[in-house]
Amino acid sequence: MSEEFVVTPWEVRGRVDYSKLINQFGLQLLTDELLERLRKHTGDLHLMLRRRIFFAHRSLDWLLSEYEKGNMFYLYTGRGPSEHIHLGHLVPFILTKWLQEKFGAKLYVQITDDEKFLFKPLSYEQVRKYAYDNVLDIIALGFDPEKTRIFLDTEYAKTLYREAIKVAKKITYSTIRAAFGLGESSNIGQIFFTSMQAVPAILESVKQGRNVPCLIPLAVDQDPHFRVARDVLPKLGFYKPAIIHAKFLPSLTGEAKMSSSEAEAAIFTVDSPEDVKKKIWNAFTGGQPTIKEQREKGGNPEICSVYQYFYFLFEPDDRKVRELYFKCKQGEVVCGDCKAELANRVIAFLEEHQKKREEARDLVDKFMLRD
Ligand code: TRP
Repeated sequence: MSEEFVVTPWEVRGRVDYSKLINQFGLQLLTDELLERLRKHTGDLHLMLRRRIFFAHRSLDWLLSEYEKGNMFYLYTGRGPSEHIHLGHLVPFILTKWLQEKFGAKLYVQITDDEKFLFKPLSYEQVRKYAYDNVLDIIALGFDPEKTRIFLDTEYAKTLYREAIKVAKKITYSTIRAAFGLGESSNIGQIFFTSMQAVPAILESVKQGRNVPCLIPLAVDQDPHFRVARDVLPKLGFYKPAIIHAKFLPSLTGEAKMSSSEAEAAIFTVDSPEDVKKKIWNAFTGGQPTIKEQREKGGNPEICSVYQYFYFLFEPDDRKVRELYFKCKQGEVVCGDCKAELANRVIAFLEEHQKKREEARDLVDKFMLRD
């Protein structure tokens, strides 16, 4: 029996079947062959690539061909500031940072304060507060201050709006209705918004007055925006942006995506060690109800949120993550031990991150673009 799932930029629901999503969205699978081609330029592959946490792409082969011809690309990603940042939100940013390091690429980070105001029941002041809060987390990841520029849509509006209207003029209401499920009762800001998200994909080309290839690492729910953008931008004389798509870090309650609407299901970057311990202790696992049964029957790492956290972020060694998988299946490890180990690693990560997050306060103005 196949379970229902929904993936749109505004909603992710159910257990996502990523191979079905590739067909639904018309994505290309990230193949061994393509990753090998990437590795020729980077020397190694980030664990999120090796483990296929990034699992799909659009035009990455084209982007690499351009790069091999000496046509350097830039990176673009973004964040909708509707709450604190949790570990799931970090996934695309972590790979973006790695790509920036490996290629020395320039990066634009779009903070869509306009989007979250238009789509969420939040005041503009709340959204703005989260925007600057979230910027600290992004800077804390260690992006190159010389090569990285971050902007809020409302603070870089003169530059963005002039390009957004050109995009908007090429998109009809019926395209938006079909691509996003928006309709007659959606507010008109929502209908316009995708043209704002498209602009950073051409921003470097606009600035340089020539076409510059663009690579966008994102969580797969953002793909519909760029499906529309990839149709429109060539009509304006620009390249289609290339994209690599990430899966969602599962929620601690076992849902498909770590949703911040349930605070217990997500670990936020501002959480205390006590919060982390409590949340992981209550996490959904693939374990048996008793230790005796766990020893006899073994657990199920496939459905275990604790295992997924090791797999996505907290066990860098491929051999060890595989070992954990088999030890769990054979009942050699019990959930309590796994949870305690994960909590230690998350706490250590957050301690370091929170320190850098405080240091980031002094760097904000260096990173921000305003006009
Ligand atoms: N809409 C995204 C969000 O809600 C933010 C965003 C803007 C983005 N531009 C992007 C995400 C480009 C990935 C890539 O989080």
